[in-house]
Amino acid sequence: MVTMLLARTVLTMDPTRPILKDAAVIFDTKIIEVTDDPAVIERYARDRAVEVIEGGAHTVVMPGLINSHLHLEFSAQRTELDYGSFMGWLYSVMEKRERLVSACKEACYTRTLESIAASGVTTIGAVSSYGFDLAACADSPLKVVYFNELIGSNPAAADMIFADFVDRLESSFERMSDRLYPAVAVHSPYSVHPVLVRKAVHLAKSRGLPIGAHFMESRSERRWLDSGSGEFKPFFEQFLKSATPVGSAADFLSCFEGVKPLFIHGVHASDEELSTIARMGGTLVHCPVSNRLLGCGRLNLEKVKNREIGYAVATDGLSSNYTLDLFSELRHALLMHEGLDLALLARDLIRSVTEIPARAMGLHTGRLVAGRSADVISFDLPGEVEHERLTYAQVILHAQKMRTVFIEGEPIDIPKEPLDDR
Ligand code: BEZ
Ligand code: FE2
Repeated sequence: MVTMLLARTVLTMDPTRPILKDAAVIFDTKIIEVTDDPAVIERYARDRAVEVIEGGAHTVVMPGLINSHLHLEFSAQRTELDYGSFMGWLYSVMEKRERLVSACKEACYTRTLESIAASGVTTIGAVSSYGFDLAACADSPLKVVYFNELIGSNPAAADMIFADFVDRLESSFERMSDRLYPAVAVHSPYSVHPVLVRKAVHLAKSRGLPIGAHFMESRSERRWLDSGSGEFKPFFEQFLKSATPVGSAADFLSCFEGVKPLFIHGVHASDEELSTIARMGGTLVHCPVSNRLLGCGRLNLEKVKNREIGYAVATDGLSSNYTLDLFSELRHALLMHEGLDLALLARDLIRSVTEIPARAMGLHTGRLVAGRSADVISFDLPGEVEHERLTYAQVILHAQKMRTVFIEGEPIDIPKEPLDDR
């Protein structure tokens, strides 16, 4: 089955011809052709085997978005966790974690995944701490890079922790498909023993899996790793009966040589650490709303850009956000980074939810070019974009309700009423 989507504007994310007007995207499970040639469009339109989907006067077609970092297991969370400071939030997570995780049952996962797809996201990077979300992810039409998380700083428990992690990883391999890709998440430099970090990186490298880690999210993390002091000290004494960090930030980073990791947050990364991440070919995952709600501050995108580090905007989980709507996250990012040129920032933000995370996670999506997966979305702008340089900014400001969402060329049902993602 071949489909042709017609649109006033096509954002291809192909640098050789990024914006096409009065154009068409033709696809089956893969993109066959993207064209603004009226004769070619006419030829497909006359072919009875092609389903033609007309656009409205201001329809935009672009690659499905990629939300590269969220925690589905916390999808029942709305108003229970403590916001305003990272440590306050972490203590509240310790207290509420079990209740919150058990409150998200099958229907909660299914509704959450459906609302993600309806908002224009076709691929997610889902960090799983327990494996409770595996069945829902595997049964969803969404593409899921399933990051099995490794966490534990206590060396006495290291073997048990690693065995449990490997069990979950193997379970995700059992559900592997053209929509579910097993991957590895190392929780953070303060919460994972260096021996475990090295074993996890080795495993990811030997099996060719994407790997990600939270890194330098909070000032407390910076202080604890640099000097073994600050607010993490009483936390570790209370919960882990330990008074010293398990390793340094530099040693942690050095474990990831050769795997092109995703580092989540990096708000408090030093200039030297950013240079190391750039040299490694790492990608920073930027979650501005989560950073704001947890009092972590604002990532210095100017520095990230100066080092030519690729960054991917993501929502993080409902444990630290009020929505998993990635267009909404982009609106916050556009307004928050007020020092950057509006039009260029908007273009970079759209890249940060399409081709950048696709490359970082090794996926054949994120661009509308022949041969890539047909993960394609369309929506309407409220009027004609009069200033072409602002096309990306207008998309971020006005993309609301999706007209169509296709994953591997297959249409996704979009509910008439917006779905609550709880
Ligand atoms: C740990 O398991 O070692 C840990 C978990 C959460 C925060 C810090 C450490
Ligand atoms: Fe996270």
